[in-house]
Amino acid sequence: MPVKENVRLGNGVRIFQPDLVNLYGCTIGDDTKIGPFVEIQSGATIGARCKVSSHSFICEGVKLEDEVFIGHGVMFTNDIYPRSTNPDGSMQAGDDWQVVETIIKKRASIGSNATIICGITIGENALVGAGAVVTKDVPPYAIVAGVPAKVIGDVRDKEGK
Ligand SMILES: CC(C)(COP(=O)(O)OP(=O)(O)OC[C@H]1O[C@@H](n2cnc3c(N)ncnc32)[C@H](O)[C@@H]1OP(=O)(O)O)[C@@H](O)C(=O)NCCC(=O)NCCS
Repeated sequence: MPVKENVRLGNGVRIFQPDLVNLYGCTIGDDTKIGPFVEIQSGATIGARCKVSSHSFICEGVKLEDEVFIGHGVMFTNDIYPRSTNPDGSMQAGDDWQVVETIIKKRASIGSNATIICGITIGENALVGAGAVVTKDVPPYAIVAGVPAKVIGDVRDKEGK
């Protein structure tokens, strides 16, 4: 099934096309909305009142706090130096590499087609521009964009808060 029985779903979660997602072993908070063609892996945690737009991939080791916005086609990562095999040519298994965690703090937003390199924290209310590759921590309220992502502004100047 596209939404496995081991998914912990909060109250009021809306999965608009449940036949077109791949959710397993993850936790989804109350009232969160999930678009089509989204994959959320075991061990990922999605907070309450988040929006996860279509075609995004949220892997093991990622934690979204409450009210986070994920645009379309956002890619998370959890291994800095990924390999298919060990040095002896054998296939890598779960014990051969370690998940690196990533935290997206409350009410942060990630623009479409951004890639988030693991091991970082994106601060509260921060905004990641479309197409960014985020390689370092993002301060609260910062707007970051580009490859690699750099601070280009402050959301409080844009949103009048
Ligand atoms: C990053 C973003 C928030 C910047 O908005 P802004 O603060 O109003 O910035 P501006 O449009 O004034 O642009 C400022 C500069 O950053 C550049 N810039 C803007 N967005 C950029 C992006 N995503 N990547 C690279 N550069 C970007 C602009 O070209 C401009 O450069 P310049 O000063 O050399 O002319 C916005 O462009 C963006 O990407 N928003 C996310 C959209 C999205 O993915 N929505 C998701 C669902 S629809």
